[in-house]
Amino acid sequence: MAVERTLSIIKPDAVEKKKVGAILAMLEDAGFSILALRRQHLSREVAEGFYAVHKERGFFRELVTFMTRSPVVIAVLERDDAVKQYRGVMGATDPAEAAANTIRKAFGANKGENAVHGSDSVENARIEIAYFFPASEVAPSA
Ligand code: CMP
Repeated sequence: MAVERTLSIIKPDAVEKKKVGAILAMLEDAGFSILALRRQHLSREVAEGFYAVHKERGFFRELVTFMTRSPVVIAVLERDDAVKQYRGVMGATDPAEAAANTIRKAFGANKGENAVHGSDSVENARIEIAYFFPASEVAPSA
C-alpha cells in the first residue's frame, strides 16, 4: 500500500471542547505521523477559498460561519493508504451515522459541527495541504 498524505482539520467545535489532544492521540494510535501542525483562526476569505467546491450548496454560509467562529487545528498526516484510513478513523459526515470508535462518533454533534475534516481523495489532499502549508513547513517522512 502506498504511503500517502492527507489534510486534517480539527474544527472549532472540537477545539472549543478541548479535544485536540484526544483527537491527535487517536490519530497517532491509528498509525498516522503528524508532519505539520498549526492552530489558526480562519478568516472568512480563507474558509470560503478552502470550501469553494461547496459554494453553491445550501449549507455553505452556515459552514463558513461555523469554521470561522473560533480557531481550528490543521495537520498534515502520513501513513500507508492515508486518505482512506483517515476517513475510516473520522467516521461518517453525520455523527449519528458514524461507526463506534470514530472521531465523529466520539466528538461530533451533527452534520455541520462534526469535529474534523479530512481530504476525500489523494488529489484533493495534495491541493488542500498546499492551501495551508508551504512545502517548507511539512516535515520530511520519518
Ligand atoms: P467537511 O469534510 O469539512 O467538508 C464539507 C463539510 O460540509 C462537511 O465536512 C460537513 O461538516 C459540512 N456539511 C455537509 N452537509 C451539511 C449540512 N447539511 N449542513 C451543514 N453542514 C454540512
